[in-house]
Amino acid sequence: MPEPLLVVRDVEKHFGGVHAIQGCSFEVGAKTITGLVGPNGCGKTTMFNLITGTFRPDSGAVIYAGRDVTGLRPHVMAQLGVARTYQLTRVFKSMSVLQNLLTVPFDQSSGERKQWAVEVLAAVGLAEEADATAGDLSFGDQKLLEFARVFMLHPKLVLLDEIFAGISPALQERQMRVIRDFRARLGVTFLVVDHTMRVIMNLCQEVLVMNHGQILAQGAPAEISRNDRVIEAYLGNRSAMKGVDHHRD
Ligand SMILES: Nc1ncnc2c1ncn2[C@@H]1O[C@H](COP(=O)(O)OP(=O)(O)OP(=O)(O)O)[C@@H](O)[C@H]1O
Ligand SMILES: [Mg+2]
Repeated sequence: MPEPLLVVRDVEKHFGGVHAIQGCSFEVGAKTITGLVGPNGCGKTTMFNLITGTFRPDSGAVIYAGRDVTGLRPHVMAQLGVARTYQLTRVFKSMSVLQNLLTVPFDQSSGERKQWAVEVLAAVGLAEEADATAGDLSFGDQKLLEFARVFMLHPKLVLLDEIFAGISPALQERQMRVIRDFRARLGVTFLVVDHTMRVIMNLCQEVLVMNHGQILAQGAPAEISRNDRVIEAYLGNRSAMKGVDHHRD
């Protein structure tokens, strides 16, 4: 496992009587694409909110790039290079596609920002839609636009919350290409939450399986897909995992 970029240590989070995160610990290796999977309500999005400072853990620590960042505010985490998408797509529907990217605050001259925005749009395949109104895009292209926005920060760590949900396999392939490309060219680290097991198993070097706010298992996709505890707790039956370990590249 490479040097970790992110370490989550013994994190706890309650919402009133709901014990959403129950002593959760894991590491994300620098420059890896790591998957985070688990049943609905197991705490994946909450973990993103704890890493990015939307929520503060009740206890435990979040270490990023060797620094204790527990409870730092979201804009500080963004300045430190942590970017995320939201499970419900958030784009500014009345703005153009390009303007949507330029709303992301980053300390760069406007000329440099615009040039980077144009590069990012080209990378995700939205170059021709740059001047289109975001609200006129298809659902899939709006997902791509929100995905594109994370790169405006020149992030080191990108957290993706179900960006593959409800879009065509062709767009999923495009997103996977972009993730691999940003990792290879710029050394970006990705933590990817999704229920689309085919994508997770294809894309990730390492998969974390969460259940009831804890990490149940961690390993390479092929190991995870054979892990009986994972199959029982998460998938309920073996047929759900059929074929997934044949799709790795
Ligand atoms: N802001 C909140 N206030 C109260 N309870 C919350 C809040 N956010 C999450 N929870 C609860 O914490 C638990 C974990 O929810 P979370 O959204 O993290 O799950 P998830 O793994 O992302 O699920 P899904 O796969 O459906 O997106 C759930 O019981 C949820 O109801
Ligand atoms: Mg969620």
